[in-house]
Amino acid sequence: MADTPASTPGRFAAVIVAAGQGLRAGLDTPKQFASWRGKPMLRHAAEALRAAGAGSIIAVIPADATHPAQAALEGLAQVTLVPGGVTRQQSVRNGLEALAATGPERVLIHDAARPECPPAVIDRLLAALDEHAGAIPVLPIVDSLVQAESGLMAGKAERDTLRRVQTPQAFRLAPILAAHRSWQGAPDAGDDAQVAHAAGLQVALVEGDSRLRKITYAGDFAAATPPPPMRAGTGFDVHRLAAGEELWLCGIRIDHDRGLAGHSDADVALHAVVDAILGACGQGDIGQHFPPSDPQWRGAPSSRFVEHAVMLARRAGYRIGNVDCTIICEAPKIGPHRDRMRARLADLLGVGVEAVSVKATTTERLGFTGRGEGIAAQAVTMLVAND
Ligand code: CTP
Ligand code: MG
Repeated sequence: MADTPASTPGRFAAVIVAAGQGLRAGLDTPKQFASWRGKPMLRHAAEALRAAGAGSIIAVIPADATHPAQAALEGLAQVTLVPGGVTRQQSVRNGLEALAATGPERVLIHDAARPECPPAVIDRLLAALDEHAGAIPVLPIVDSLVQAESGLMAGKAERDTLRRVQTPQAFRLAPILAAHRSWQGAPDAGDDAQVAHAAGLQVALVEGDSRLRKITYAGDFAAATPPPPMRAGTGFDVHRLAAGEELWLCGIRIDHDRGLAGHSDADVALHAVVDAILGACGQGDIGQHFPPSDPQWRGAPSSRFVEHAVMLARRAGYRIGNVDCTIICEAPKIGPHRDRMRARLADLLGVGVEAVSVKATTTERLGFTGRGEGIAAQAVTMLVAND
């Protein structure tokens, strides 16, 4: 980063205001230096403007934040740090004053708090700037509006005449700098269009973009990482075959000379399916949710575990895409029960039967399953993000 504004021409110069405290976000660090989708917000804003053709970029930062600002902007050329003011308007003015030395014709003034900036908006702004002293991106208001007074409706407001205002806002440098120098309004201005308008400049409205939304609250950061559209999980379980036990597999009771012993009804196939679902949504394993030490699960139907896992997946934002379960045993033969098992499993998972597969294999009489000492099951699931 240079100490003085660089003068290499771009399509426009940019001032990014990043000197606020981010009080409403309430993070440990001012929000403009906080990470959003893997990078500091300020860097997102600077990279987006550079990609759209910005030459010199002035980043206006808190006086004591040189360190985090340098870290956020590391490796970006033609970026100059300038200390901000008490209000946003003063911060913008400081940025414009720093830019004036190099005299670019057009400047985009942008909030570091808006990390996404589609290039098409910048094209629209620059096109409008050919005809007007300023141009700003706006969006229509979809909700109806009221005037409020002490918690009561005091009147209606005309939605059709109002717009939501975003940044970046484009201006010719000389008139917007003069407008900021002569600003006499309230201590702060909502944005630079207000400063321009107060100075009598004509400000054109161009179509904004919802991706230009301002990150304001802590929850806006939490919402920044969209969940992946799909998540896979695997499950594996083994239970011992013992005399005097019932044999339950995939929620179906099967007549057999022995049954599976263990916690709950020991339905090894359902346990594998539950672990696959829990694994896919990062919710631990079956033992954590239904500890064997807890007497309430003794002899419990494993269908309850499946229903609980499906509910957890739903809460995490997912539904079951498909489940593929393999039962590993010499006996009983699974084939005659397969259709009922699929139907029952589909029912428990709340999906169509085509989304459920139940397969079986032996281990060629090898190992504990081959000797008939126990039954193993494994399952794979794909969870799909809810629309
Ligand atoms: N800003 C600035 N100088 C100020 C105040 C705000 O440069 N004195 C910048 C912020 O860093 C932000 C943009 O103006 O990029 C929009 O302001 P806002 O979203 O209100 O950010 P903060 O003022 O930091 O947040 P808060 O109002 O919650 O404290
Ligand atoms: Mg603020």
